[in-house]
Amino acid sequence: MVTRVLFVCLGNICRSPLGEGIFRSLVEQRGLADRFEIDSAGTGDWHVGEPPDPRSIAIAAHHGIDIRGQRARQVSGDDFAHFDLVLAMDRANERDLLARCPAEQHPRVRRLREYDPQSGHDVPDPWFGTHGFDLVFAMVERCCTRLLDELHPESSR
Ligand code: 4NP
Repeated sequence: MVTRVLFVCLGNICRSPLGEGIFRSLVEQRGLADRFEIDSAGTGDWHVGEPPDPRSIAIAAHHGIDIRGQRARQVSGDDFAHFDLVLAMDRANERDLLARCPAEQHPRVRRLREYDPQSGHDVPDPWFGTHGFDLVFAMVERCCTRLLDELHPESSR
């Protein structure tokens, strides 16, 4: 069985590209690549077609993850039927997603930090520079690790 996971933020250039890259890297490390389809998207369309923000590319590269090949896209109505999990980076993204999808698909929309072993609601938006990309990376990595542990407990260490 393949689990389809979509990471969603506002612009799809800072946070959700890190979600996609980190989760894919963990999945590959555990030999589970054929068990997942992983993608990311933004609720907004300002950056469609662009590569990730250079600061996200840099922090990912620092951790040995190459996200340069990603290109931003906007969430589409089809995503809610296709993906088993649509993971919002913050509560604003969650609200936007829920407003765009039929009620029967609402259970697929979750906040990534629901999987954070530490408490909190939002992965803060680093675009304006108030929160560091290193903080965002650590938070997303923590949540992705817990998510994968829950989906494939036999693979956790
Ligand atoms: P992201 O960050 O949602 O993590 O990709 C942002 C990127 C761009 C903008 C806002 C947030 N923007 O306003 O263009």
